[in-house]
Amino acid sequence: MIDLQRSGEGLEGYALLAAQLEALLADERDFVVNAAQFAAFLFHELEGLNWAGFYLNRDEELVLGPFQGKVACVRIPFGKGVCGAAAASRTTQRVEDVHAFPGHIACDSASHSELVVPLVKDGRLIGVLDLDSPRQARFSEEDQVGIERLAAIFLRLTDC
Ligand code: SME
Repeated sequence: MIDLQRSGEGLEGYALLAAQLEALLADERDFVVNAAQFAAFLFHELEGLNWAGFYLNRDEELVLGPFQGKVACVRIPFGKGVCGAAAASRTTQRVEDVHAFPGHIACDSASHSELVVPLVKDGRLIGVLDLDSPRQARFSEEDQVGIERLAAIFLRLTDC
């Protein structure tokens, strides 16, 4: 496990994760397989997460997809909470304190910070990648850049 924040590996750490993810997804293009693998990879390789997974776009509603962590909310309307904001705006949401975020949906009260990356392929919103942490302000700008890069690898190597 790479402790990106404490080891100070920063973008170098993410370069290594990117190479590992490329290798992990190289021989398979199925969406469910690769999404499940990617969620497990993030959950176990990044330090300090309590949830990592997908919400998928089903007719302008987000529906729970493959994930690692505790059972979660099943459906989230576009525009609601952190995930809904990422889907509606198609921009990454990096939230240091979710309890201060208007409309935050608390699936697990242990979560304190959150990073949600919209997944857009050929102009279509596939869904969002959601990472939660019990630590306040777990995700730095470097984490955002690194995780967006990993999400781009997932989209390139997966049929969706
Ligand atoms: N907290 C999220 C909901 C999803 S769970 O964290 C798994 C939100 O406000 O969008």
